[in-house]
Amino acid sequence: MSEAPPILRVRGLHVRYGHVHAVQGVDLDVREGAGVGIIGANGAGKSSTLKAIMGLADARFDELQVAGERVLRPTPEAMVRRGIGYVPEGRRIFPGLTVRQNLLMGAYAHPWDRRVRERVEEVYRLFPILARRDRALAGALSGGQQQMLAIGRALMGEPRLLVLDEPSMGLAPALVDEIVEAVRGLHARGLTLVLVEQNARLTFSLTEHCVVLESGRVVKEGPSRVLREDPEVRKIYLGV
Ligand SMILES: Nc1ncnc2c1ncn2[C@@H]1O[C@H](COP(=O)(O)OP(=O)(O)O)[C@@H](O)[C@H]1O
Ligand SMILES: [Mg+2]
Repeated sequence: MSEAPPILRVRGLHVRYGHVHAVQGVDLDVREGAGVGIIGANGAGKSSTLKAIMGLADARFDELQVAGERVLRPTPEAMVRRGIGYVPEGRRIFPGLTVRQNLLMGAYAHPWDRRVRERVEEVYRLFPILARRDRALAGALSGGQQQMLAIGRALMGEPRLLVLDEPSMGLAPALVDEIVEAVRGLHARGLTLVLVEQNARLTFSLTEHCVVLESGRVVKEGPSRVLREDPEVRKIYLGV
């Protein structure tokens, strides 16, 4: 019996910005239901890897597959349509639109779907504070609420894989906890995750498998519970 192909398969990913070779041959496999973390210092190439997968960076792949189907040239629209939800670094919500309008923007890949309203209600159940701010301008929300909105917007596309780039960045600890618990709940209910974080402790707690990126290369990978005990990883990424 052959195993189902991974939701995401990346081979030989390279990203260049002029003479900066930011990602240098990254491979990544994400199986259905898995939680995969990417940890690494500032500038290691984490965001570039995610942007390349979403078609937002000038990238070269030996192979990019979504659920066994080859993607020759990723674009954000096509990747969302294939079931990948992306929460970019720095949230990138639309500040001049209301909370609800931001969520509706996330449903553009399925614009006529009758489930859109239902989906908004699901996001509001996940983050009740957003329901209370339904008509508020997104630019008036706190950083934590904007992060919830960015996650909610990605969920509007009914993703099978949710890709998060530094969701904890710049947030107060109480809000980080709330967001982490929401993401943990989504994952526990079966949503596949790729999580990029400088906060390695948080990444280990939310994922089952991690890769460590250094200068655009995967230098280590393995089960999160093994990596979190790795002396080198502890010293560099956990500060212990
Ligand atoms: N738009 C860009 N133009 C030029 N260099 C960039 C750009 N984006 C990222 N870089 C460089 O690429 C490298 C990797 O960046 P990035 O993927 O953002 O790392 P990380 O997310 O791990 O902090 C860094 O050296 C960064 O300075
Ligand atoms: Mg980054």
